Amino acid sequence: MPGPNAAAEAMRSTGSPRGGERHDVRVVCAPGLERVVVSELAALGLAARRPGQGVVPVQMSTRELYLATASLRSAARVLVSAARFRAATFAELERGAAEVPWGDWLRPGQPVRWRVTSHRAPLFHTGAVAERLAAVVGSGPAEPGATDVQSVVVRIVGADAVVRVDAAGAPLHQRGWRLRPAQAPLRETLAAAALLASGWRTDEPLVDPFCGSGTIAIEAALMARRAAPGLQRGFAFQGWPSFAPGTWASVREALRGALRVDGPSPTIVATDRDRAAIDATRANAERAGVAGDIEVRRSSLSALVDPAPGRTGWLLTNPPWGGRLGGAGDLRDLYAALGTVAGTRLPGWGVALIAADPRLAGHTHLGLEPRLRTRSGGALVHLLVREAVGRSGG
Ligand SMILES: C[S@@+](CC[C@H](N)C(=O)[O-])C[C@H]1O[C@@H](n2cnc3c(N)ncnc32)[C@H](O)[C@@H]1O
Repeated sequence: MPGPNAAAEAMRSTGSPRGGERHDVRVVCAPGLERVVVSELAALGLAARRPGQGVVPVQMSTRELYLATASLRSAARVLVSAARFRAATFAELERGAAEVPWGDWLRPGQPVRWRVTSHRAPLFHTGAVAERLAAVVGSGPAEPGATDVQSVVVRIVGADAVVRVDAAGAPLHQRGWRLRPAQAPLRETLAAAALLASGWRTDEPLVDPFCGSGTIAIEAALMARRAAPGLQRGFAFQGWPSFAPGTWASVREALRGALRVDGPSPTIVATDRDRAAIDATRANAERAGVAGDIEVRRSSLSALVDPAPGRTGWLLTNPPWGGRLGGAGDLRDLYAALGTVAGTRLPGWGVALIAADPRLAGHTHLGLEPRLRTRSGGALVHLLVREAVGRSGG
């Protein structure tokens, strides 16, 4: 889990205005990653309340909202509570909606994507709820391809409606550096969560022998450079009428100031046997600004060598899963080979696998222990870890 990080240091150095407006925020993540989000928030100096499934509630100032949205690596969305009111009937819904200070978040006629859910509620027709809200607010339709769309999340439970505004816009795994779709790209947020939860320290060597499009290596290199994941993209909050450009400029300045631009970077190695994967890794790393920090090579697992003799590091990878390799026997052999390669060529190194099938991972015979369990692309995924020898924690 992360310790106090550069963003938090940057925040302290420029002074965090306490006392101003407080936002009731829900940080949304893939279920199973809540603990990682809580420790990321703690590293920013933010104390979360008790998480629910895939949701971490936390109070924030405007500055903290901008900072967290740009800094969190494992979160998917950041939602700000706008209103809570009774909505047992459409008349109540319309009355409640008319009281919401929409002008803080929406410009007149701005397209809105209404994400309405309803549980055990008299207002169960979510499409009709969205229509009424759009009529009250006077929002434009979120046509496919429309830019400048604000997402508004409306959750109705029984007679209670809660309205939340999405501060991020495009989901936070979209960092802005992924150039081309890879075969089975790992979500950036899951790669980051695995790095944070594994116990890898940002000065330790890291190897990903099944790098695909390079997600793990790139997220690792960005962490080692203390580069906030949101420095390369924009956020919905920048379009809000209540947007505070000076506060955002100072947050960005603090984040840029926290970047480790020079100084040694850890050894980070990304290899894959597939040429297209290696091309994608190179292009993505270039766009992420970390091409110089990653050794990218086309090679197969069997050719893996210790990139940092005399040091222990981490093999953190997302091996092939599913049927693409052919029969399950092939996959068992591949996992067994991974175990042999890790055990003989990287002795004492920590090993962390992001894998769909823990039984398959058992064929590594590395004594991997479950660390996280989450979902990715609808499938259950596990982070399985074996500590580096002589180290504990994580
Ligand atoms: C699940 S994908 C990794 C996806 C990656 N984490 C990403 O973010 O794009 C597994 C990768 O393992 C590679 N691979 C399969 N067998 C291999 C082997 N024997 N040696 C090296 N790479 C292999 C495939 O080419 C594929 O890119």
